[in-house]
Amino acid sequence: SRCRHVTVTGGLIGRSWAMVFAAAGFKVKLYDIVQQQIKSALENIRKQMKELEESGFLKGALSAEQQLALISGCTDLREAVEGATFIQECTPENLDLKKKIFGQLDLIVDDNVILSSSTSCLLPTKLFTGLQHVKQCIVSHPVNPPYFVPLVEIVPHPETDPSTIERTYALMKKIGQSPVKLNKEIEGFVLNRLQYAVISEAWRLVGVRISNYCERYRDGMKLVLNTFGPVPEYSGEVEQKVNQAMSEKIPVVPKHLDSRREWRDECLARLAKLKIQMKSD
Ligand code: NAI
Repeated sequence: SRCRHVTVTGGLIGRSWAMVFAAAGFKVKLYDIVQQQIKSALENIRKQMKELEESGFLKGALSAEQQLALISGCTDLREAVEGATFIQECTPENLDLKKKIFGQLDLIVDDNVILSSSTSCLLPTKLFTGLQHVKQCIVSHPVNPPYFVPLVEIVPHPETDPSTIERTYALMKKIGQSPVKLNKEIEGFVLNRLQYAVISEAWRLVGVRISNYCERYRDGMKLVLNTFGPVPEYSGEVEQKVNQAMSEKIPVVPKHLDSRREWRDECLARLAKLKIQMKSD
């Protein structure tokens, strides 16, 4: 079989991705320009995995030691991506920096590896346009931390090859994430559009005192919110489309609706149990 090898960087999101891939049995190279980041990432991952193993929440079939043995660090980009089949870029959210890194990768990768970015807000056309390997480029936007929140938004560049989309989707499934494919890019993708809409309304209602959050996300949020359309009518074609899709998923007959409700209530019960557990910790 092909070399199962993934490269990520050593920050917050990169660490969590590394754990997700190692849990699925993939070899992972942590690449970072800051040596200390790799060291602390490896230490932090070790600590997390050991704790998860003790509490019975470690993912995957391998032990913590076996998973740790799959992860290694590296400060040389060429060495980090050598033999990789998938590269999950997790550098800081800065367009110029990311463009520089994808530009570097473009020069050294083969025609097979997938170049995937964790970016929250930068659009594929901004990141990948003009790259020689644009067909192999895609955004796989995780939710923090991907180890515990499986949703991944898969967002292609207009020139991304369909096989890149399919391979990325399949890989995400394989490692236990819940990928969602977007047909085309849009500011904020889907998750942050939904999230920002809710946050904005909460803001209007009460105001929130979280200056650190504002500092980090103010610009991105305003950018996304400025692309929102007018207040929807909640009727007509869209209503019919949504209604039809929902009816196809869960037929509007008591038998199906009841079992769906049961499923939902079970989930809510488990969530409530988790909340109680979290309070008592
Ligand atoms: P972070 O600041 O924790 O990690 C970034 C890492 O990149 C650091 O270890 C840093 O040393 C390294 N780095 C900086 N310059 C580099 C370079 N030239 N080459 C290689 N490595 C370099 O950032 P975080 O929070 O992990 O975010 C990373 C990406 O993930 C961003 O694009 C962000 O938008 C995205 N993301 C973050 C989420 C979050 O909640 N933190 C959620 C979803 C996506």
